[in-house]
Amino acid sequence: MDTDLTSNYLGLTLRNPIVASASPLSATVIGVRQLHATGAGAIVLPSLFEEQIRHDMRSTERLSQVGSNSFPEASSYFPDTVRDDGVPHRYLDLIAEARHAVDIPIIASLNGTTVSGWVDYASQFEAAGASAIELNFYRIASSPTATGPEVEADCIALLKAVRARVKIPIAMKLHPHFSAFGAMARQLDAAGADGLVLFNRLYQADIDLVRLAWTNDVALSHPSEIRLGLLWLSQLSGRLSHASLAAGSGVETVDEVLKYLLAGADVVMTASALLRHGPGHIRTLLSDLKTWLELRDFKSVSEIRGLMEATHPVTDTERQERGDYIRSLTGYRGPYVRR
Ligand SMILES: Cc1cc2nc3c(=O)[nH]c(=O)nc-3n(C[C@H](O)[C@H](O)[C@H](O)COP(=O)(O)O)c2cc1C
Repeated sequence: MDTDLTSNYLGLTLRNPIVASASPLSATVIGVRQLHATGAGAIVLPSLFEEQIRHDMRSTERLSQVGSNSFPEASSYFPDTVRDDGVPHRYLDLIAEARHAVDIPIIASLNGTTVSGWVDYASQFEAAGASAIELNFYRIASSPTATGPEVEADCIALLKAVRARVKIPIAMKLHPHFSAFGAMARQLDAAGADGLVLFNRLYQADIDLVRLAWTNDVALSHPSEIRLGLLWLSQLSGRLSHASLAAGSGVETVDEVLKYLLAGADVVMTASALLRHGPGHIRTLLSDLKTWLELRDFKSVSEIRGLMEATHPVTDTERQERGDYIRSLTGYRGPYVRR
């Protein structure tokens, strides 16, 4: 009998746990068809950004008030795509066309940080046929006056605002930089998140030492980045009342997929590996996953899900983490270390 790869994410049934995460590969219907053909369990479309929707709303307003200077603020911080009127409408077309083109879940991505009129767009995602919404709260709280509790409250308020506008499932895509991520996850779970995507990568600028200028290129991820995800998946798996869990960074081979599933991920997302090797890489990941499961006599992927999740009582978690931390530092061995 064939190994059963069926997976549940956000209350949706997926044919397997490999999800193509938001990237330029899913920005066209041709790309969506290709990801479907190579076996993706679900596809996340690239984000529609708060700034794009706001810009579009401002343009519409300006058209109805020709000659007035009601929105003078510069949008020069933002790339041309943000200043392109009509992006939101094209995005809705993409959702509708992708939905018709394939029979796997199409997850549309809203990306923003504040609660205001732009959030209404969520209901248009639902009307266009999105199976779910991934809400990416990508906020670097760089203002020295923004406090942790304020940022957390903003994140929960954004979820609640979108939750109030749609019935389809919502996954929160987050970076890990909250002071107490476990509590944050539980609050989002309680506020109606159907899933958490762990984690957003931060696109930090670098310094070019030749040109003495800041650079902002997107570096693709590396498997060494999965460890923070493993830690939090294993801590949260089985401990949330409702939300499912997606692993989201550093997948290159089936090894990372397996580790994430063992730690408790319901699905595993990948972007960099597909950009590096092409969408066909999903086939390789799936075939290697099946082989691994068969060799160990597992009949389904659900048999390994969460097998390595944290088992100690929540109250002991911090002590356990301290113990692991001290063991790894004091256990270091290397050519220049005498113990
Ligand atoms: C070129 C590129 C474009 C991306 N675009 C988006 C996007 O529009 N929205 C989003 O939420 N994430 C976006 N991401 C982030 C990916 O979805 C993913 O979360 C991140 O790359 C980590 O996964 P990986 O290690 O498999 O690359 C993008 C990543 C890359 C490399």
